[in-house]
Amino acid sequence: LLDKPIQQPLFIKIMEKNLKSHGTWIGKWTFVLAATGSAVGLGNIWGFPYKAGDEGGGAFVLIYFLCILLIGLPIMVSEILIGRRSGTSPINAMKIAAIESNRSSAWQLVGWTGIIAGVLILSFYSVIAGLCLNYIFISAASSGVIEAQTQFENATQSWQGLLFWHSVFMILTLLVVSAGIKNGIERMVKILMPMLGFLLVFMVMYAMLNGAVNKALSFLFSPDFSKVNTDTFLSALGQAFFSLSLGMGSIMAYGAYMPKEQNIGSTSVSVASLDTLVAILAGLAIFPILFSFYDGFSIDETLVQLKENGLGPGIVFVSLASAFNDMQYGQLIGPIFFILLSVAALSSSISILEPGVAFLSEERILSRKKSAIVISALSWIIGIGSVLSFNLWSDVKIIGDNNFLDSMDLIAVKNLQPLGGMLIAIFIGWFMKESLIKDELGSINPIVYKIWRFFIKLVAPIGVGCILISQLF
Ligand code: PFF
Repeated sequence: LLDKPIQQPLFIKIMEKNLKSHGTWIGKWTFVLAATGSAVGLGNIWGFPYKAGDEGGGAFVLIYFLCILLIGLPIMVSEILIGRRSGTSPINAMKIAAIESNRSSAWQLVGWTGIIAGVLILSFYSVIAGLCLNYIFISAASSGVIEAQTQFENATQSWQGLLFWHSVFMILTLLVVSAGIKNGIERMVKILMPMLGFLLVFMVMYAMLNGAVNKALSFLFSPDFSKVNTDTFLSALGQAFFSLSLGMGSIMAYGAYMPKEQNIGSTSVSVASLDTLVAILAGLAIFPILFSFYDGFSIDETLVQLKENGLGPGIVFVSLASAFNDMQYGQLIGPIFFILLSVAALSSSISILEPGVAFLSEERILSRKKSAIVISALSWIIGIGSVLSFNLWSDVKIIGDNNFLDSMDLIAVKNLQPLGGMLIAIFIGWFMKESLIKDELGSINPIVYKIWRFFIKLVAPIGVGCILISQLF
């Protein structure tokens, strides 16, 4: 008996600290469901179509696929691996992995930048998601006479309205996260994800039957490389990180709750494929409706029209909303679409809040409930800046030419997320003990392992590094 050491959780052995355990996901599919819920969000249904619209259609789609496959997927495997190794929040997970590999515990800084990125992302994510909630009602009540542009102005010019919906969305997020892994997040994704799948399939079928499908297909899948420049790469990479929820701890935190017997490689492939599939399906739901609304215009002429309404928020809240106002059953299809967006946003926002909450509660600094209140309150307050950037502060520039909301996006999505991802790749590729990595990956085909190693050591850090540096010029 004496020979056999009692199995202690890794973090107690290493940190000599009694961190509070969060437990693991119950069902076999729960990790995939939760991580897909995190990945699939406003980024897929709203961000991906508008960026594709803005940056050369099929060419952007192609570069985006490459970013997902060559950079996103290898980093996703790494994040889950580090998270699951210790079963703790990203800050402690990085620290434990570093100490176990005899490296400096300063690697935990990667966890910290992730949490800062999360607070910033949640701040504006909640404002836009709140607007989606508001549009469920706006599109249901719309009579068809009122112009979508006027509707959008009415909804965004009043900061009180935006603030109200921002608060409602933040409270929903807070309630789910504070209820815990099993009773909150797990229970919620089991309801939200099937609903999301159903609504999306419905929207795609509707668009296929009633929209300009051929134009949409040739727009999304025939590349126009003349519009590609370094910005396209930056934007596709940022979109890939954002869409897969990488570089800021969400996937690492969810990985921490993954049972040991599950295979990290195959689950990552499932999550990344589902996320990409949803982005494409969202494009196939939105563009046929838009192209049919601008019937008689060519693809390029339609894009000019769409740009006049403003890409970004405009594509959904003005262009698509006009199509809903104009079409038969628009008062029904419109709300269905905005419920879809809100559901997708909620299953993502809970994963943005989770890493910080996991840290404060496992360290026993605050209870889970109080941690969720404190962090969401912080995001809520910062979000007020994004609320105002639609109205009172619309002319206020924070960084360069960017208003408040775009500046948060610039800091967190275009810089902190890729930076976090790059550091995770460097850590796994060059600093973490290979025996620990192999231990966590379990049985894996040696060739697949070598390919992954190559991408995580060289391709991901160099690719992300080049794109980050290119921003400076
Ligand atoms: N992946 C989400 C989306 O595509 O909308 C957004 C997101 C969630 C970003 C979680 C970052 C994150 F950690």
